[in-house]
Amino acid sequence: MAATSNPPAAAMPRHLAIIMDGNGRWARQRFLPRPFGHREGVKAVRRVVNACVDRGIEILTLFAFSSENWRRPAWEVNLLMKLFLISLRREISALQQNKVRIRFIGERSAFADSLQAAIHAAETATANNTAITLVIAANYGGRWDIVQAARQLAREVQQGLLTPEQITAEQFDRRLSLHDLPEPDLFIRTGSEQRISNFLLWQLAYTELYFTDRLWPDFDAADLDRACAAFAQRQRRFGQTGEQVEQVEQVERGRSA
Ligand code: FPP
Repeated sequence: MAATSNPPAAAMPRHLAIIMDGNGRWARQRFLPRPFGHREGVKAVRRVVNACVDRGIEILTLFAFSSENWRRPAWEVNLLMKLFLISLRREISALQQNKVRIRFIGERSAFADSLQAAIHAAETATANNTAITLVIAANYGGRWDIVQAARQLAREVQQGLLTPEQITAEQFDRRLSLHDLPEPDLFIRTGSEQRISNFLLWQLAYTELYFTDRLWPDFDAADLDRACAAFAQRQRRFGQTGEQVEQVEQVERGRSA
């Protein structure tokens, strides 16, 4: 975690995290097989990445495939893997053109070599892009992330590099997947369900949560604006009182006047 950011009221989120839910229902509503929903989901990804760039959102983290999604029928898992591979290969030039830096978090060794190679190629090719950082969580789970950080710390203690007393929240955070990025300011979940589903468990501690009935393939720039408007209404207190936050905001307003 770079330090927890405290944006002024009415600010845009710097970092937006999304659970893209509802592809299957979108397809079912149209009497189509589920793959059609996932294909439309890819179009929504493209739309939302561009909308985020236009709005100056610096980081977009998308939950593409959870550690638990392997439990889906094999044909659907295979289809999703194919879709990821095709999309990555197809979108690379658009990512470059729009200066999108893409990065993956999650246990990638479970993926086929071809997908791992495409992930590596996309990350390398876009590493210096500056318009937005697009983080794709693939074979990711919040618990997995916490466990792998705990393992790293345990190894370091075993090697005498660290004492147990030196393990602080900051030290822990440095071993997590998003250690070099600010925590998400806003979390959106589409598709009606109101849960975190093992997404960024540690990093969402102070994130504003926004749930919408909109199914992911239908999610567009206007939906994003609605979520950002709701975010702008929230008072982020990070454990302080509302009065303390207002005082800080007054001082900041005074400084910038
Ligand atoms: C949830 O809908 C969606 C997924 C598990 C897959 C998400 C994948 C995409 C949107 C495809 C493209 C992503 C990238 C990054 C290229 P669901 O199948 O759970 O829908 P349901 O709850 O209506 O069944």
